Amino acid sequence: MRYLTAGESHGKQQTTIIEGLPAKMPITQDDINDSLLRRQKGHGRGKRMQIEKDLVDIVGGIRHGYTLGSPIALVVHNDDFKHWIDVMGEDPVAEDQKIRRVVTRPRPGHADLNGALKYGHRDMRNILERSSARETTARVAAGAVAKTLLKNLDIKIVGYVKEIAGIKAEEITELSIDEKIRISEESPVRSLDEVAGKKMMDAIDHAKKDGDSIGGVCEVAIEGLPAGLGSYVHYDRKLDGRIAGAVQSINAFKGVEFGIGFEAARKNGSQVHDEILWSEEKGYYRRTNRLGGFEGGMTTGMPVIVKGVMKPIPTLYKPLQSVDIESKEPFNASIERSDSCAVPAAAVVMEHVVAFEVAKAILEQFPHDQFPKLKEAIDQYREEIRCF
Ligand SMILES: Cc1cc2nc3c(=O)[nH]c(=O)nc-3n(C[C@H](O)[C@H](O)[C@H](O)COP(=O)(O)O)c2cc1C
Repeated sequence: MRYLTAGESHGKQQTTIIEGLPAKMPITQDDINDSLLRRQKGHGRGKRMQIEKDLVDIVGGIRHGYTLGSPIALVVHNDDFKHWIDVMGEDPVAEDQKIRRVVTRPRPGHADLNGALKYGHRDMRNILERSSARETTARVAAGAVAKTLLKNLDIKIVGYVKEIAGIKAEEITELSIDEKIRISEESPVRSLDEVAGKKMMDAIDHAKKDGDSIGGVCEVAIEGLPAGLGSYVHYDRKLDGRIAGAVQSINAFKGVEFGIGFEAARKNGSQVHDEILWSEEKGYYRRTNRLGGFEGGMTTGMPVIVKGVMKPIPTLYKPLQSVDIESKEPFNASIERSDSCAVPAAAVVMEHVVAFEVAKAILEQFPHDQFPKLKEAIDQYREEIRCF
């Protein structure tokens, strides 16, 4: 399974095409819209999210509530485009009427300058329109299809916020995944810890007032995966590696950890590795889950726990210094409409990019032309490894 996205931030639409889904899988518009609306929420989002009400238009691959096995094409229209037709329209424009809203002052922390140097664009709008995190709308749409596949295979996944601006949510180990889904959904910052959540909201308000931005840590948990998903035999088949790559590729993400992650460097082996147990009911399982559900590039059958670090958003209302590429004079960087903190939304994006990698690994490992056959094969494998 693979997907591509296309579309500019203030262009007509975000588009995604997903190929490789089995035929006969139940799916509805609501499965995708629910994810899109969740991405738009969160304390600290800027004006753009009030303008856009993201709803999917399914334009290929789904009929009467089921996948056809053909590519699935999804469109999310940018409502803001109507204000940007002159700037973003595709038709040629006469030189004397040329383009408003030219960007010549690159914003530190964005793709603006590197992209301009690479593609030779002197108007950096040609860069920022595509490098904008608006593209994560299309990634969430693709991930929502993957999540629907997981749901149909009794696999649950949720993204939530662990930390914003150094304020950490307390670890509550006994929460079930259903509770995590419910509590994070009720929190304006997707925190599982209400007290820390309130402090996070204060920190966001403070940053906004200050014209500054803040980052944080998101976590994704997955339950219901069988052991042995992924592979140890080659670097590009290791599922933890693929997930890490996908998370790192989200705009503004700067690091990834599984389980105790970087803490492993400071502990002895006896405090890191998870002892193996067996019971009639569960089959093989681990006494602890410090390694976050992975050994040897494959799932252990324990919950997958992965964290991603998001840097503070680079567009600042008290801008950093930059250089105008026309005059070479120092200037304050340009300001595009911006959030002060997007960590809660990023947790939803992360949930969806991880869902895609996991669904892809499942489809590689099991017969996948027809959904009912896939389900049967996975259920049979689950039973086989329980008694192995
Ligand atoms: C959900 C989400 C929303 C974002 N919103 C903004 C924003 O409003 N303003 C901004 O400057 N950056 C925002 N970003 C981050 C930038 O898109 C990102 O930092 C930039 O594209 C440069 O890429 P890099 O940080 O990965 O190097 C957002 C990121 C995510 C995941």
